[in-house]
Amino acid sequence: MFNELTMLGKVTLSLGLIGTCLCALGQPAPRLRDLAKARRFNIGSAMPVSNLRQNIDDGKYAALASSEFNLLELENDLKPPAIWVGPHEYHFTDVDFIVGGPGQRGWAQEHGMKLRGHVLVYARDEGYTLPQWLKSSGASMSKDEASELLHDYIHALVGRYRGKVAMWDVANEAIDDRPNQNPFNLRNSFWFRKLGPEFLVMAFKWAHEADPKAELYYNEYGVEGGGPKAQHMLELAKWLKQQGAPITGLGLQYHIDWKTSIAPGDGHYQLIDEIHKLRLAYMITELDVAVPVQKLPAGDPNRGLIPADPEDLNLQAKTYAAVFQMALTSRNCHGINIWGLTDRHSWIPGFSQGRNGLATLFDKSYLPKPALQAVEDVLKRK
Ligand code: XIL
Repeated sequence: MFNELTMLGKVTLSLGLIGTCLCALGQPAPRLRDLAKARRFNIGSAMPVSNLRQNIDDGKYAALASSEFNLLELENDLKPPAIWVGPHEYHFTDVDFIVGGPGQRGWAQEHGMKLRGHVLVYARDEGYTLPQWLKSSGASMSKDEASELLHDYIHALVGRYRGKVAMWDVANEAIDDRPNQNPFNLRNSFWFRKLGPEFLVMAFKWAHEADPKAELYYNEYGVEGGGPKAQHMLELAKWLKQQGAPITGLGLQYHIDWKTSIAPGDGHYQLIDEIHKLRLAYMITELDVAVPVQKLPAGDPNRGLIPADPEDLNLQAKTYAAVFQMALTSRNCHGINIWGLTDRHSWIPGFSQGRNGLATLFDKSYLPKPALQAVEDVLKRK
């Protein structure tokens, strides 16, 4: 099946190359992935297993994914509710397709892509972050039972894919947006209630035991550019290191908008410096740059896909370029992952209830946007 997929991908890709990327000499223009390789930079995209498994849009999705990116992150399929179906019971079939079960190769290896695992502990209690069986049985669960469950979960998952997932988000979004009384302003989540802040130390230690070579990250949103939440994150990271947690770095989500300004010396750059001072790496883990769109009713196929002002796509390109510029000129950045392959596959229209969209590098027809060109220009710059 992989051979067929690969063949189909190559045919579609060749057609795409002929159609869109011939340069003056008739040679295909370098792809994002080639440019990133020349800079030894990880450039990824978040995708659902189903789009690859079903080889949607006559193979166009898979072809673009593997020709432009060298890193793959599953958008939802590795979150606890997708895997952890009951106490000591796990659903691995979907992820196996991409990562490969024990002794097997998956779609990612067949296409020479590294994997980024997202996420072991999504430290909030919503349905998409915490298995609901865990939440409902939680009240009667002892601390020891909770820690044993988490230990076994992390060992089962990270252990199964040992050596195949280059980096894991060990914990995600554990810090609250509004001030509370908890250490590091940690969210009052199931894991915090059961285990206290130590749940984070445990998760890092267990992930490291299960795959000592994987890079391990703490991932957070709303910290880019600095501010009180970013300070909490830095304090948390410092404490985690003091506790002996094997943390590689911080994941900065970067769900930003087209007007976001990023320039040397500003809060974005200062935060990167602070992270470097802690001797930590960082990754931009969920980059998307939202643009205001025409307001269309839910269900309209163009919802989120028509800009309110087409000029915003050029401003968006500048913002994308500024993020890449920062990442490529800083000493401790381990890569950029984009949240969604094309504008049609992005979560932004749904998340913003149709106010924003067009947040990725490719349009709804898989064609390059000004943002792609801007990013390529930065990658080409020495
Ligand atoms: C989002 C997915 O993109 C959506 O498909 C899903 O419905 C909700 O979650 N921060 C994260 C990601 O760490 O896991 C979230 O992904 C987006 C915000």
